[in-house]
Amino acid sequence: MPDDVTVIVLAAGGGTRMKSKTMKVLHPIAGRSMIGHVLHAACQLEPTRIVAVVGHQREQVGPHIEEIVPQAVMAVQDTQEGTAHAVRIAWEALPAEAHAGTVVVAYGDTPLLEGETLQRFVRFHRESGVAMSILTGTVDDPTGYGRIVRDDQGVSAIVEERDAGPEHAAISEINSGIVAFDAGFLDSALPRIGNDNAKGEYYLTDTVALAREDGRTVAAFAIDDVMQTEGANDRAQLAALAAEMNRRILDRWMRAGVTIVDPTSTWIDADVKLDVDVTLLPGVQLQGATVVGEDAVIGPDSTLKDVEVGAGARVVRTHAELAIVGPGANVGPFAYLRPGTVLGADGKIGTFVETKNSDIGPGAKVPHLSYVGDASIGEGANIGAGTIFANYDGVAKHRTTIGAFAKTASNNTFVAPVTVGDGAATGAGSVIRRDVPPGALAVTSGPQRHYDEWAQRKRAGTAQAEAAVRATEEAAGEASGSPHGGTPDPDVGDTPVGG
Ligand code: UD1
Ligand code: MG
Repeated sequence: MPDDVTVIVLAAGGGTRMKSKTMKVLHPIAGRSMIGHVLHAACQLEPTRIVAVVGHQREQVGPHIEEIVPQAVMAVQDTQEGTAHAVRIAWEALPAEAHAGTVVVAYGDTPLLEGETLQRFVRFHRESGVAMSILTGTVDDPTGYGRIVRDDQGVSAIVEERDAGPEHAAISEINSGIVAFDAGFLDSALPRIGNDNAKGEYYLTDTVALAREDGRTVAAFAIDDVMQTEGANDRAQLAALAAEMNRRILDRWMRAGVTIVDPTSTWIDADVKLDVDVTLLPGVQLQGATVVGEDAVIGPDSTLKDVEVGAGARVVRTHAELAIVGPGANVGPFAYLRPGTVLGADGKIGTFVETKNSDIGPGAKVPHLSYVGDASIGEGANIGAGTIFANYDGVAKHRTTIGAFAKTASNNTFVAPVTVGDGAATGAGSVIRRDVPPGALAVTSGPQRHYDEWAQRKRAGTAQAEAAVRATEEAAGEASGSPHGGTPDPDVGDTPVGG
């Protein structure tokens, strides 16, 4: 079965240099774990099976791998005795009938690895019909890598760093660690590998000498883009690979028709999708499964995680998560869209507005200084500045519904559960506790009352009282001598404070 491909991903290493509670291969780059990137690349081979070799902390890594590749076979390596030991454990985790076809070994910590590279490599391996092929690259500093020794029949040996002598000093072609085997050869080679070397480990690279002993050929597939096979062992290398991956992602989007004004301050995760003529202003981070539609402009200084932005929308200085921004809508500056926010087409979530679990209909606007939690705001409605949707009574959360084309005034509080009907209105400063019928104007704040000369009486001797005295005298002068006693509220009359 020539199309039978098994991928073995080695991920048993502790990654102690990360100095982390989180296992090395689980550290994220561009919104995926390192091993997530490798598994994505491996899946592009459409392999018959994927085996992951996990070590201690497998309770962390195992479920993560199963989430990405549910059918993956988990092979547990309790003690790390070398790459050949790890592959043997993977091999033993498979039934005998799976010992067929092509076997690709990769490492779980090489996030830049591309599926297309693996495809070319496997094609090369099959077409050469060799016992094994090694993905190699030429590096400036080969320290730490296995050196590729070639002769006229291909690769004759891989010499590990610790076993290298002066005769290997000039070799700059290295073993990336990614190897393809003919399954029959691997099956015969694994039991023959010993650990008699400088590290006392079972080296997978010893398969080269075994193949040659068997009179078979080992081929090298050299790639120019060696970074694809680079691993991250500590957090400095992690940051360097993350920066390189970001550079590659941005490059791809710019070539696909996205304007990125400042690539140095823009970060885009691997799974983000952007349409043509999207513009990203400086300081933008697009994370998770964020999708941005044609002509939308994001930024500056915005972070969107798992957000869907419609065509032509504008999102300025905003933090948003698990939200939908409709086409032509406006968000920000300084908006906070929490999970479950759905803003309709041409709607607006304006300055210093926080929203959560709320539908804001097409053309509806929440322009200023508001909290919108657990609300449904109808089409074309306008919410006044400084409005609070009081969704929480201290025990449970409740919903507020604002009808289509309702106009609510400034500084309102909607005490949920409550409904404002279609086309209704409210007065400034209202606290709406009861449902407002469609078309009604609801006013709840008390009539305005004046306690005349309150400052003069209650704050005598202060600058406040003096200012009041001055203004009263000036007004009296202007009124040509008629004594001034304040302006009683026409509705309530003068209600002086007693005592
Ligand atoms: C290995 C190669 C070397 C190559 C280099 C590329 C061998 C003997 N050497 O060396 O030729 O240039 O990678 O980076 O293969 N692992 C396990 N279980 C083990 C040992 C390792 O799962 O028992 C995993 C590690 O987690 C790691 C990978 O295999 O992801 C490589 O192991 P590592 O110890 O880093 O091998 P190197 O000495 O770097
Ligand atoms: Mg290594």
